Order: sequence, then structure tokens, then C-alpha cells
Amino acid sequence: MTFFFDQPVSQTDPMIAQALSDEKSRQQNQIELIASENIISRAVLDALGHEMTNKTLEGYPGSRFHGGGRFVDVVEQAAIDRAKQLFDCDYANVQPHSGSQANLAVFFTLVKPGDRVLSLDLAAGGHLSHGLGANLSGRWFDAHHYGVDKETGVIDYEAMEAKAKELRPKLLIAGGSAYPREIDFERMRSIADQVGAFYHVDMAHFAGLVAGGVHPSPLPFADIVTCTTTKTLRGPRGGVILSKNTDYARKLQAAVFPGVQGSIHRQVIASKAVCLGEALQPEFKTYATQVRSNARMLAETLKGRGIAIVSGGTDTHIVLLDLRNQGLKGSQVEKALDAADITSNKNPIPFDSPRPPEWVGLRLGTGAATTRGLKETEFQDLGNVIADLIIAESEGKLLSVVESAKVKTSSLCKAFPIYS
Ligand SMILES: Cc1ncc(COP(=O)(O)O)c(C=O)c1O
Repeated sequence: MTFFFDQPVSQTDPMIAQALSDEKSRQQNQIELIASENIISRAVLDALGHEMTNKTLEGYPGSRFHGGGRFVDVVEQAAIDRAKQLFDCDYANVQPHSGSQANLAVFFTLVKPGDRVLSLDLAAGGHLSHGLGANLSGRWFDAHHYGVDKETGVIDYEAMEAKAKELRPKLLIAGGSAYPREIDFERMRSIADQVGAFYHVDMAHFAGLVAGGVHPSPLPFADIVTCTTTKTLRGPRGGVILSKNTDYARKLQAAVFPGVQGSIHRQVIASKAVCLGEALQPEFKTYATQVRSNARMLAETLKGRGIAIVSGGTDTHIVLLDLRNQGLKGSQVEKALDAADITSNKNPIPFDSPRPPEWVGLRLGTGAATTRGLKETEFQDLGNVIADLIIAESEGKLLSVVESAKVKTSSLCKAFPIYS
């Protein structure tokens, strides 16, 4: 049996081992600009691949449904304590398997099926777990949406307030996956209060910026805040629920387990603890500051080359391109960048078509490449490479620039290596 316990996957399953190795080289040799991604530390990876995965446990530290959980209790309690310290709050649940599960647990806690919710429109940068028709949140709840101003691309708070007064939702939700600007958390709290709604902020994208002190925290204003440990927080895939108000604690605990989940993913919770510990270090503030400066440099460089940026810039790690002036679709530019080893994703812009092939936006984010060590100078170079590719694609001359773009990407990857 030593064979079973000790043979690496490269010997037991060459086909899967090859795909794993190919993916690692892809990450090493491409510049990652997908805003929801990041590159985790060896320490976080160690915890993720740990034998702790073998354990089955339900319940919470000190109160489990199975024996043998004492070491898992150590890591889960550490993750809870670190999350509370990092975000300066009084309640944390680190069990949600994903951001969507965390959001579902908030619905389970605050509203009942059929209740009305008001959230950011998907095309304006919202998230599908906030009431999209095709998602359970949109099937089971009466979801309505607020949007952004057509001219500025910034949330139209007056229209939001008018809509909230008209619809009187039970739950007001802030946050999304492609909104690049700071949200006025205080104003939304006041709108929620005026209509007697609960207020939930999903800070999945900008949680790392809040942790690093370069973005306002929603915790003083929201009833409940959710986030993922992925993205700017630079941890494993998974969700966290936070609140300053412990009145929600009992309901939230039950909403996560047994409400929407069963047993916990212990190795993920261990890696969340490691990631939260990293985010508590002073270097994380430097990282978060750099993420935001890099995003600003990227936005300014692209703007300088005639590429429109939704809302005219960014306050976060997200830069959302509006490709209408170039007559291009997001999918075309995603492919053009991929040909030069730059990874991005097509995205709707405000008031875009609901059909993904017709979207005219491209979402970029600086979290992962900043982890590699890229600073403003490199992001300026990268912005120019991206602009060259977009302009060439719009003129039907992509092939003429792909090779030189690839050389530049490759030199950046070599200068800023990952996972030696
Ligand atoms: C704002 C927001 N909330 C929730 C999620 C969902 O997270 P997950 O993919 O872990 O379910 C995302 C994912 O990108 C997101 O952007």
C-alpha cells in the first residue's frame, strides 16, 4: 500500500498529470488579467493540498457532528479570528464553499422565497447570484435591478432611491463583478433604511483592497457583508460571511449549515486561514496599493491610446474597456489578447446586449499580475501592447503585431516568474 499513499500523480495518472503540468506552464507563460483571478502563495497551496482533506466534519468548532475534529477546529477558529481582525468585525463564517453559496446563505437569513430584492444590473457590473433569472436567486426571489448613469457609468443613486421607494424591497444588495468604482455604502444604507430593507454588500472583488486599507470598508454600514477569498484577497476559491452585528450570528450559522451546505471543505478552510494571515501582514498593504496604482496606470495608458474606459477610469483593480469606438466585440479582443499570451474576458458594458457574443466590453484586472511583481512601468508597457493589439484587430492587421506582442509578454513573464 505504500505505493497507493506515496506515488505522485505523474506516475499514477500521466494523462491528468500532463494537463496539470500544462496548466502550470500556461500560468507561468501568460500574463493573467482576468479580474477575478490571482496567484496564490506556496503556503496557501500547501494547505489546499493537505491530508486534512480526508476528514469529514459538519458543524462548527467545538460543536461537531463527527469525532476527530480537534485540528480542523484549530484552523477554522484561526480563520474566523483572522477574518474578524482583518475586517474589524464581530462575526465571521469561513465555511461557504464559494461566493455564490455565501450569498445564498444571506438570502436564507434575511428573506423568504418570493420576497423582493434590489441589486445592481448584470450589464452594469452586477453578479448572477444577486437575482439573475437563470440563477436560483432570480428564480426564488422577486429580483429587480438598479443601474448606472448612461453618461458617467457611475451608479445612479437617485434613480436607485426612487426605485427602492417604488418597489420597497426587503433586501438591497451592493457589489458586483465588473463595477470599477467605489460604492457609496453610506448612501445605500440610508436608502435601505428609508424603505425598511436589509442591506447586503458583496465585496467579492474588492475585499483585498479593503483588507489592504486602500478602499473604504462596507462593514460599518451593511447588515451583512460577503466576499470570496479568491480575487484580490489572494486565497483559495471559497466564500466568507462577515458582520459587525452579532444579532445575525445564530441565523447565519444555521443558514450556512445545514441551510445551504453539508460538510465543510477543511483543506480550503486551512488555506483560507493562511491567506487571511498573509493579508494581515504589512506587505499586503503594499500589494493592495500597487494593485490600485497599476489599474490606474493601465486605464490611463489605454485611454491615451483612444480606447474608452467605462466610467472613465477605476477606483479598484478592474478596468472595463468599451470597444464600440473600435467596432469590436469583447470576444474578438479576448482572442486577440490570448494570441499574445494575455488572458482576459469579454464582458457586458452598461446597457449592452444580453447576448454574450454581442458584448462590446472587455474586463481587465490587475490583481494577479501585481502579485507577480509588475509595477506601473510594466503596466504602462502592457497597456500599450494591449492597445496595439486592439487597434490592429480593428484594422484587420492583427498578425502584423502578434509576434512582437508575444515577445513583450514573454519577457515580462521571464522577468517576473511564478512557482519556480
Ligand atoms: C461579486 C461576486 N459575487 C460572488 C461571486 C461568486 O463567487 P463564486 O464564483 O465563488 O461562486 C463572484 C464571482 O466572480 C463575484 O464577482
